[in-house]
Amino acid sequence: MDGVRTHNCGELRESDIGAQVMLQGWAASVRDHGGCAFINLRDRFGTTQIKFDQALNPAAFDKAVGVRSEFVIQVTGTVVGRGANANLKIPTGGIEVEAGSIEILSSAKPLPFQIADDVDAQEVTRLKYRYLDLRRNQLNSNIVMRSKVCKMVRDYLETRDFLEIETPILMKSTPEGARDFLVPSRVHPGQFYALPQSPQTFKQLLMVSGFDRYFQIARCFRDEDLRADRQPEFTQIDIEMSFAVPELIYEIVEGMLKHVWKHALGIDIQTPFLRMPYSEAMEKYGCDKPDMRFGMEMVTITDEVAGSGFKVFSDTAAAGGVVTAIKVPDAEKWSRKDIDALTQTATDNGAKGLAWFKIGESEWSGSAAKFLSDGDKSAIATKMQAGPGDLLLVVADRPNKARQAMGAVRLKVGDRLGLRDPKKMAFLWVTEFPMFEWDEEGQRPTATHHPFTSPVMEDLPILESDPLNVRARAYDVILNGTELGGGSIRIHSSEVQKRVFSAMRISDESARVKFGFLLDAFEFGPPPHGGIALGLDRMIMLMCGAPSIRDVIAFPKTTSASDLMTDSPSDVDEAQLRDLHIAIKH
Ligand code: AMO
Ligand code: AMP
Repeated sequence: MDGVRTHNCGELRESDIGAQVMLQGWAASVRDHGGCAFINLRDRFGTTQIKFDQALNPAAFDKAVGVRSEFVIQVTGTVVGRGANANLKIPTGGIEVEAGSIEILSSAKPLPFQIADDVDAQEVTRLKYRYLDLRRNQLNSNIVMRSKVCKMVRDYLETRDFLEIETPILMKSTPEGARDFLVPSRVHPGQFYALPQSPQTFKQLLMVSGFDRYFQIARCFRDEDLRADRQPEFTQIDIEMSFAVPELIYEIVEGMLKHVWKHALGIDIQTPFLRMPYSEAMEKYGCDKPDMRFGMEMVTITDEVAGSGFKVFSDTAAAGGVVTAIKVPDAEKWSRKDIDALTQTATDNGAKGLAWFKIGESEWSGSAAKFLSDGDKSAIATKMQAGPGDLLLVVADRPNKARQAMGAVRLKVGDRLGLRDPKKMAFLWVTEFPMFEWDEEGQRPTATHHPFTSPVMEDLPILESDPLNVRARAYDVILNGTELGGGSIRIHSSEVQKRVFSAMRISDESARVKFGFLLDAFEFGPPPHGGIALGLDRMIMLMCGAPSIRDVIAFPKTTSASDLMTDSPSDVDEAQLRDLHIAIKH
């Protein structure tokens, strides 16, 4: 029987009592109480209880008890109140539908796992049957949230004069620095397109075209090692603006996030966000994406321990290394086992060890306390504003190593003390990134962000002489220790662009081969411009409190970049390969 439902399964309330309704959905559960059967009818809007009374309507009752889990059914009936039997846990719990008729629209085989909130099936099984997993409340509401957020982003950016413009998927390799996914050309034997790692070059060209403000909810593809917050294909809220300065970009992005958090979660986030130069982030938090939900800043105590009797410290100081420490309250709560676990974190993150000191009323105890003189102790305590009851954790090593390891220990301590509350939202701008990083393999500076990022103007004079100390006009927006997005003001002067290529030892010819089209465009009146891209998947993951970005992508890939449901990647026909001029070497 055809028909249009009168309501969805999450809609009926006490005010509908007495109404004749028709609902369609999945049978989440079927309970036969002998003489009376109940079906919980589910769709993405909610669940409504349907009651089948054998005495009132034997035909419908008989059909209902034959329904199995996840059959799709259609029910007509009358809305009745549940009175004292109301289920306060669900919005429709005050009513049920007294069924007049039931129609089975489709049946279902026994499921590989239950559609329940706390499903215990292996993730492999859940990914293979992703369409079933997506029926679960949690995943379902994540995907609904994602759809809503995209709409809010579009609404907000429209009010700020942004145009949504699509850019090619089959294109020339982009400069984001990951490995490209390549697509062979049939028409041009031996030649390849690359899938975009981001729309970077195109969005800059759109500025040259005069579109002024562009955005796109853009698919990006990067062949890189996957982690919980990385997928080989992911989505960016990609933004570019003409006549941009960082302040304007911060204001627009803050406004967008404020709008989204308010409308999607009902949360007022505080703007403007905190800002911190990269160098400070590294020194105090040991990483370029500090989790600002808690303090416990790292303190550099290299000078204080340079002359100490503990050789690990004094030798490190003498060798130009760094000694960095955090102060943790309530030292007595940290057992040897706890500290061993932290030491493991430090060594897993590259440190040679983790020194620790518990400050008592009269003396210090700990792994290297006996090597410290009273003078050492008082210098450390003063610098760290530490006193009795504090636990000090210390790493000595080459600067980056020491800071990275200590940063990881800080996060572990934060976890252990419950300071990383997922409900808390700590946004931050990290600014003044270094323009270049040293590439050991190629023995040359490479762009930290990408080669079109503008250097900080004051640093231009040292571009050739001291490139590793040049700061970029680049910024990342961080939320709770996750990099939500990154961007920069771009170079729009061909002279500066040439100098940047040359600092990276990229020859004119090779720059032309790779980015000739962009350099050409910059000869025709490019406006000063800049932009940013926010990882949509990561943003939704944090908004939903999901543990992985897989949970906010309808059809994600595994950590080995496979799709277990469609079984891709997979072999292709010989004929297809022949068309593409490709031979597989086995
Ligand atoms: P960037 O490379 O920093 O910048 O990327 C921007 C944001 O995209 C998200 N992201 C990812 N999310 C999921 N899986 C991945 N593999 C992945 N890689 C990146 C992150 C990141 O902050 N074109 C520049 C932006 C610009 O300069 O305007 C760019 O792509 O949240
Ligand atoms: P050891 O002298 O090797 O027994 O080390 C004494 C203490 O110093 C132990 O707690 C080590 O974990 C710690 N330690 C060793 N190397 C370092 C280092 N590079 N930084 C901080 N602590 C260290």
